[in-house]
Amino acid sequence: MEVKNKYIDFFISKEHKKLNSASIIPENDPTSLFNTAGMQPLVPYLMGQPHPLGKRLVNYQKCFRLTDLESIGDETHHTFFEMLGNWSLGDYFKKESIEWSFEFLTKTLNIPVDKLAVTVFRGNEFVKKDEESASIWKELGIKQERIAYLGEEDNWWGPAGETGPCGPDTEIFYFRSNDETPVSFDPEDKRWVEIWNNVFMQYNKDENGNFTPLVSQNVDTGMGVERITSVLEGVKDNYQTSIWLPIINKIEEMTKLPYEGDNKKAMRIIADHIRAIVIIAGDNANIRPSNTDQGYILRRLIRRMLRYAKKLNIDITSDFALILADMIIEMYQGYYEELSKNKEIIKEVIKQEQTKFSKTLDKGLKEFEKIIKTVEKTVDATNAFKLYDTYGFPIELTEELANEYNLEVDTEGFKLKFREHQEKSRMGAEHKFKGGLSSTSDMNVKYHTATHLLNAALKEVLGAHVCQKGSNITDERLRFDFPNDTKMTDEEIAKTEQLVNDYIKQELPVIFKEMPKEKALKIGAEAAFIEKYGDVVSVYFIGDISKEFCGGPHVNNTKELGTFKIIKEEASSAGIRRIKAVLS
Ligand code: ALA
Repeated sequence: MEVKNKYIDFFISKEHKKLNSASIIPENDPTSLFNTAGMQPLVPYLMGQPHPLGKRLVNYQKCFRLTDLESIGDETHHTFFEMLGNWSLGDYFKKESIEWSFEFLTKTLNIPVDKLAVTVFRGNEFVKKDEESASIWKELGIKQERIAYLGEEDNWWGPAGETGPCGPDTEIFYFRSNDETPVSFDPEDKRWVEIWNNVFMQYNKDENGNFTPLVSQNVDTGMGVERITSVLEGVKDNYQTSIWLPIINKIEEMTKLPYEGDNKKAMRIIADHIRAIVIIAGDNANIRPSNTDQGYILRRLIRRMLRYAKKLNIDITSDFALILADMIIEMYQGYYEELSKNKEIIKEVIKQEQTKFSKTLDKGLKEFEKIIKTVEKTVDATNAFKLYDTYGFPIELTEELANEYNLEVDTEGFKLKFREHQEKSRMGAEHKFKGGLSSTSDMNVKYHTATHLLNAALKEVLGAHVCQKGSNITDERLRFDFPNDTKMTDEEIAKTEQLVNDYIKQELPVIFKEMPKEKALKIGAEAAFIEKYGDVVSVYFIGDISKEFCGGPHVNNTKELGTFKIIKEEASSAGIRRIKAVLS
């Protein structure tokens, strides 16, 4: 933890402003599920938009890399990690960036110069060989033999998603070994580990794969907290650093097993996953276990953690995960305030998912044992789907289990079955919708009506381009996605809220009419998914402010709704805004 504070203080002394970590869910990049680097929340500013805090920024950012999920269990990989970063938005460039990195490492952290080596960009048809960076390094005392010139695979960074800012970089390596430090740097020699990456961000990659120069020359740097901590503490296994040791010790105590041999992998997975679970469930983005997107990752993490806990003979219905979660929350106090604030939610998420999965994990594993007796090489799609559908095994878990027996899984076939199943349950849900809705609560019904009012109010405030791009209703809130290029201002939000509350107060009747689709369209009824409707449709009218194709159900009069409040307005994806609102 100390290194984070040292880093922030150092760059503040170089006139940087500290930024808080953004949510772990990207706001501006629909091409990635999680922020994978500190620069991701800064993309608009790297593209030229002025940042309110100025041109020099520093922070530590919550990051998550899904690509590494399968590697967790070794010494160095993590799903969640923290990235230290400092940025120049069109301000300083290579010279200051490299000099300050060098100063921080050798003066603040006291790393001997002789333990360091660097790589710089070899050049390609767009960008020339980075002699400039190399000569700055040499002036600082890095010998020529410690500088390697590498190509795009190594010394070009970004974009973080499919498009966005990118550029050549220079990476700093540390010789982590008790062996004598070799005179020459060999980037292939695993004893040299990368600790810091300074990207000279000068290009934007667009959807067509073209690179165009950015309006300004930026610097984006990234240093993983876990890695630098392992270097500073002189241990090769990240899980033996001060970051993880208390967690690993606790797992040893719970299991009465030593952190040794085969136990190591399971203990590391539990440690890594519980931390990621706490961070994701505790993020203000309200991620909950589900079968899609980030919610699915959260579910996979919890279920995978439980499976490894079971391997270590932990009673997976016990509160072991809650005890570990408390430790993690405590550990990040003062760094990520949202974790303490969302503590109860985090624990509830873990508890519920634990309850769900612990009921079927045992049976599922038995089923799996049965299945593998009947297969030679490949677990077929039907069995993989059964494990998913009946026993709640994420497909990745089945794949991992199969791998342990040198078997494959027909994942493509599984996906096909999965889609068929989704289609069927969608049709089932619509059917249920038409046929009486016994399962729909009063609150749910109110939120349906409130959604129509919100849609109408947004059209008034923002314009006729507003329409429903997505909607999700629970008993606690409504969620509404709609196209709009800009974030709503506070005034627009207040005005929208006011309008909806006015509609409610006007005690407007809610009336339902069945009519031919053509007629409904002619009178201007709005349809979110026109292709979904048959020839005769039902249209709900709310006074004369709203008419929408809808299966209902709705309240009879808007006066039943109470008070409407928008609790969040945020980006959902490019050009799509998302509102969450509640009734009270
Ligand atoms: N964005 C750069 C990285 O992630 C600094 O390595």
